[in-house]
Amino acid sequence: MKPAAESNSDPATNTLPDDAAGSSPLLARIEALLSQMTLEEKIGQLTQVSGNQAQTGPLSLASADRDGLRSGRVGSMLNVLGAHYTRAHQEEAMQSRLKIPLLFAHDVIHGYLTTFPVPLAEAASFDLQAIEKSARVAATEAAAAGIHWTFAPMVDVTRDPRWGRVTEGAGEDPYLAAQIAAARVKGLQGRQRGDTDAVLATAKHFAGYGATVGGREYDSVDMSLRQLWETHLPPFKAARDAGAATFMNAFNDLNGVPATGNRYLLRDILKGAWGFEGVVVSDWASIGEMVSHGHAADTRQAAELALNAGTDIDMESSAYRKHLPALVAEGRVSLALVDDAVRRVLRLKFELGLFEDPYRFSDPAREKALLGHASHRHAAREMAARSIVLLKNGTRAGRPVLPLDPALKTIAYIGPLVKAHKDHHGAWAVTLPEVDCEKFIVSPWDGLRQRLNGHTQLLYAQGCDVEGSRRDGIAEAVAAASAANLVIACVGESAAMSGEARSRSRIGLPGVQDDLLQALQTTGKPLVVLVNAGRPLIINSVAACADALLYTWWLGSEAGHAMADVLSGDHNPAARLPMSFPRHEGQIPVYYNHFSTGRPRQASVEVPWAGGYIDVETTPAYAFGHGLSYTQFAYADLQLDRPRMHADESLTVTLQLTNTGPVAGDEVVQLYLRDRVGSVVRPVMELKGFQRVHLQPGESRELRFAITRESLAFYNDSLQCVAEPGWFDVMVGASSADIRLRGSFELMD
Ligand code: GLC
Repeated sequence: MKPAAESNSDPATNTLPDDAAGSSPLLARIEALLSQMTLEEKIGQLTQVSGNQAQTGPLSLASADRDGLRSGRVGSMLNVLGAHYTRAHQEEAMQSRLKIPLLFAHDVIHGYLTTFPVPLAEAASFDLQAIEKSARVAATEAAAAGIHWTFAPMVDVTRDPRWGRVTEGAGEDPYLAAQIAAARVKGLQGRQRGDTDAVLATAKHFAGYGATVGGREYDSVDMSLRQLWETHLPPFKAARDAGAATFMNAFNDLNGVPATGNRYLLRDILKGAWGFEGVVVSDWASIGEMVSHGHAADTRQAAELALNAGTDIDMESSAYRKHLPALVAEGRVSLALVDDAVRRVLRLKFELGLFEDPYRFSDPAREKALLGHASHRHAAREMAARSIVLLKNGTRAGRPVLPLDPALKTIAYIGPLVKAHKDHHGAWAVTLPEVDCEKFIVSPWDGLRQRLNGHTQLLYAQGCDVEGSRRDGIAEAVAAASAANLVIACVGESAAMSGEARSRSRIGLPGVQDDLLQALQTTGKPLVVLVNAGRPLIINSVAACADALLYTWWLGSEAGHAMADVLSGDHNPAARLPMSFPRHEGQIPVYYNHFSTGRPRQASVEVPWAGGYIDVETTPAYAFGHGLSYTQFAYADLQLDRPRMHADESLTVTLQLTNTGPVAGDEVVQLYLRDRVGSVVRPVMELKGFQRVHLQPGESRELRFAITRESLAFYNDSLQCVAEPGWFDVMVGASSADIRLRGSFELMD
């Protein structure tokens, strides 16, 4: 059962009617050019090859296919960086018969030269404005470097921290992920298409990639269509509605059909029901990989399946270039479908103004002026501080361990990541060979030393490596700790341990870092731990050792400054976890918006005949939405402006929030709903609103949330999007496990 198509395209093929040319000068220009193109030139527009300034997949083609550029057999390139190189490749393309300009694409995932926190860290900020600003800066720098198109945002929802690519997304919740997807698309695409401070966005990986079996990279995905629509599609729909110019296939099969050749995903949903008029690009060689999937007998059949299913551009497999001419000649792929794909590509090039000036993005002066600009670094530092999650803050001698006491005489800064630089860029950072990471990235050591500015002595010991079993540095670390008044440990994964092709079956601290922390704890000194990772780690023993615990993810170019801002109290942390943190790998998947089941889980493993495990609590170590602050907030006076609502109405929830603590701070107020009874069972709670609010000490503010039909709707067993009459619970709190106020209302129809 599939949702009905809602667009004006031809349902059979989702191609726009070719009389569209009469409707606008742009379409007339596209038709005029299309009419001059040979089949080989058309297929050239559907062929994308990699340059050699980065490698993001197993190279299958000679890099930078020069002949293809001059003969119009290449329409776009990825991994070509900088005004100089993009201009050089464009000049070759301008030697082709029709002088159709190239598009240049790159994975600008969390910044170009100025690197922002990894996307999962940014999601922890629950700050849509800051996230949009981050994408705006990334687009400004990338466009200044000649890039037209970024393969971002990655919007895959995932509940499995073993999967290395969790670092690229927005975590486990479809609502949060959808809000962030829209913010990132708007930030990347800016005011209007063709602005030279904006790039084309890509919603990826369409779809279901975050649900691979076992969190294993490139593995299968098998789920009900209801789960697909309810959990995994909302961020893609949000990206589409925000105007994302392109979509990218996922590597996985979905219920046995590879996403690259999945007509249901690409033609029924994306180009059909959603009326998407942009471009679908394959993931790296994913067309050819349908042979490995066992879905195509050879790359010829793979090309036929992919184009007929709705994949417009072939990245790096060269299947289209090799086989489409014969497939069209034999009628196995219609010329109309090829033309539709080419129209979509040409439209982007016209909209970017590349036919008027193919070099308008390749401007060395703009590149020099904008990359790494001070205002960009300031935005990165602010975003990084807003992404740090305070998980624990104990007290010593009657005062909280954090923020650091300015009277401290000596601090020992210990761990394998204290003086690291490149690691703090995290996965998918753009590597520019001319950039000296040691100078460009602020290490934790640099950041705190600058902040303390000599008022407090700072001791250093590495203690151990990130990985490996060497323990001979622990004694030196203990000695440094013993000589200090307080110890800060900076531990975690290496940046290369998360990201693509980085799934891990065990997600604790690697190496002997746990031993280092336990040795430091024996000194009896207050111990602050910073955990750097691209994913949730299992940190039970870390939390047991630490007096205070900050989750610092991978924070980008300004990592050290942001950590120092939070450690010193210059920035009061307020970020919240966008994913549940498991107590054990055996708990995975653990997520907050689960079903009640017939025998609901109990907090204690002692309760007989209850859901869950007998050997570990069913609750996560840290809940979705959890995060602490240096101040405290009181929630009061929940009001619903009506006891019941009709589906065409909006119900308003209000409450009073007060900063009852000693310092100013932000609070991320979260609104959850529960649909008590449904024609299909409904989650025990679902995030349906959040606000990050800044209050001075003693300040109170009324907050308002609107509940509409959209907040209540879900996909029923017939895949219809419905809101069913009945009672709903309203829960407002500081996390999914810290509900402060409750209410309820009835939906009447
Ligand atoms: C990679 C990734 C994808 C990326 C593409 C181009 O394999 O799966 O996210 O955009 O190839 O680098």
